[in-house]
Amino acid sequence: MAKEMHSPAWTIRILSALLVVGMASGQEADGEQSHSTSVAGMVQLLQLEDKLIENLSNYANELEGKLNIVRSFVEQMRAESNKAMSHTEHYVSNPLNAFSLIRRMHEDWTHWQLYMEQPVGKQQLEYINLKREQLPSSTDLEEAAAAIYRIQATYDLKVSDMASGLLNGKQYNVSLNELDTYALGKYHFDQQSFGDAIQWIYQASNRLNGPHKLALPLGLDPAEVQHVYAEALIKMNRYADALKVLHIATTIDKNNLRLLQRKMEVETLIRTSSNISPKPYHKKPVGNYERGCRGQFPTKSKLHCVYNSTNSPFLRLAPLKTELLALDPYMVLYHDVITPSEIRELQYLAVPTLKRATVFNQKMGRNTVVKTRTSKVTWLTDSLNPLTVRLNRRISDMTGFDLYGSEMLQVMNYGLGGHYDLHFDYFNATIAKDLTKLNGDRIATVLFYLTDVEQGGATVFPNIKQAIFPKKGTAVMWYNLRHNNDGDPQTLHAACPVIVGSKWVCNKWIREHQQLFRRPCLTSP
Ligand SMILES: *[C@@H]1O[C@H](CO)[C@@H](O)[C@H](O)[C@H]1NC(C)=O
Ligand SMILES: *[C@@H]1O[C@H](CO)[C@@H](O)[C@H](O)[C@H]1NC(C)=O
Ligand SMILES: *[C@@H]1O[C@H](CO)[C@@H](O)[C@H](O)[C@H]1NC(C)=O
Ligand SMILES: *[C@@H]1O[C@H](CO)[C@@H](O)[C@H](O)[C@H]1NC(C)=O
Repeated sequence: MAKEMHSPAWTIRILSALLVVGMASGQEADGEQSHSTSVAGMVQLLQLEDKLIENLSNYANELEGKLNIVRSFVEQMRAESNKAMSHTEHYVSNPLNAFSLIRRMHEDWTHWQLYMEQPVGKQQLEYINLKREQLPSSTDLEEAAAAIYRIQATYDLKVSDMASGLLNGKQYNVSLNELDTYALGKYHFDQQSFGDAIQWIYQASNRLNGPHKLALPLGLDPAEVQHVYAEALIKMNRYADALKVLHIATTIDKNNLRLLQRKMEVETLIRTSSNISPKPYHKKPVGNYERGCRGQFPTKSKLHCVYNSTNSPFLRLAPLKTELLALDPYMVLYHDVITPSEIRELQYLAVPTLKRATVFNQKMGRNTVVKTRTSKVTWLTDSLNPLTVRLNRRISDMTGFDLYGSEMLQVMNYGLGGHYDLHFDYFNATIAKDLTKLNGDRIATVLFYLTDVEQGGATVFPNIKQAIFPKKGTAVMWYNLRHNNDGDPQTLHAACPVIVGSKWVCNKWIREHQQLFRRPCLTSP
């Protein structure tokens, strides 16, 4: 199975070899636009769709215009012809009628031929051609299907529920049609996960029998859908079910020899392999990561919740409401540390330069796009404008860290099922000497939540059973390093898939070298 697994053994192995680097990650994501990886990015797709619909509508108008012209002429011609046909000889005996008949038979039909040959909607066709490269590619579609699976598996949702708009217990006024559900079935079929393919194609098959069947040119071939359904059932050793489905397929498409042949083969399979039992459907195993994402960690008694105004002049003027979340690693939540208007400005600054987030691959020596991180990011230099200066100042006041030599502010927007698999923020200085030489490793992370997320999108630390659900205006800070400056494995964390919502975050990775005499609040061993 080529699916992404969140099992810690897998992710830790891969992700500790991949170092998350921000500074140098300016490059475009391998030429792909990665449509599904940011909600803000998908808005552009809606705008393009709007224009294409406008063109298709213009196309319909042109067709209609031509149709109206033809219809009105047919009417006139029919009237004249009827008059003539009732007294044919009498009609042509009149010289005016005779001349007119000769003239129109000589001239008009040539014009009709030319008019009929003239294509309609050439401009609109050209417009689609022009926009083709902006349309999602097959890679985009695969990524989107993988994201739907990620949501389904992480939150243990039922395919039938998802298809009808019931997401994690909440009913939305949205559902998937036969083309959507069939595309998901085909995706799983291609991934050789036939158990999942069966469930989605079953939904497609139901919709084909429903009242809202789509017409050509988009409609599905129902026999083909049943055929693929049967093939998936065969792969799961469900021969009797496959035979039933093939039977339906052959009644829909009676002359399809391939289907009849397949049906006979399955009948033979049933006779010759009576003791083969169906393969079971394997659900993804549930670990602390999934439990955290689902909000199933036991609630902790709050360690502290205080207004801290001791750090700096800033905090004496505007005391911070802080909540101590954990001691090992040291982790603090700050409430109301960024205002709605600051958030709007950050998003406004970020949108034009959002690019697919990458992960640094040490072996390849460059940033690469990976399935384990689906979001779009941009970096804002510290001195970009008064807002970035003010935010950096605030981070320093909040945490007591000196930000000289730290990384730029990173603004991120997640997309469809957007997530970031289990990883550490620290580099591990033993391996990544080049990246830590100058300013040291990432001693701490500050993560601002810029939006509420309607469902999903928690930040989960499975080893310490801590899950933080995004709340607009809050920020979380944690130490990545232990006292001896080694990476703290307890900081293993992930961004859970977003179910519904546009998740925006902004983070700051603080480097250790400036903090020699500044390591505030340190209590971990
Ligand atoms: C196609 O749509 C675009 C955007 O709405 C519009 O500018 C253009 O004129 C349309 N072209 C045709 C031929 O309808
Ligand atoms: C659901 O959406 C449809 C159109 O998409 C609309 O006609 C209908 O009123 C909506 N129902 C509710 C309960 O919002
Ligand atoms: C306030 O924060 C500073 C440094 O971050 C820390 O040393 C101090 O103990 C905090 N005060 C309270 C009351 O938590
Ligand atoms: C850092 O890398 C070294 C060498 O591979 C390894 O032994 C050590 O466990 C790593 N440290 C952490 C905290 O992952």
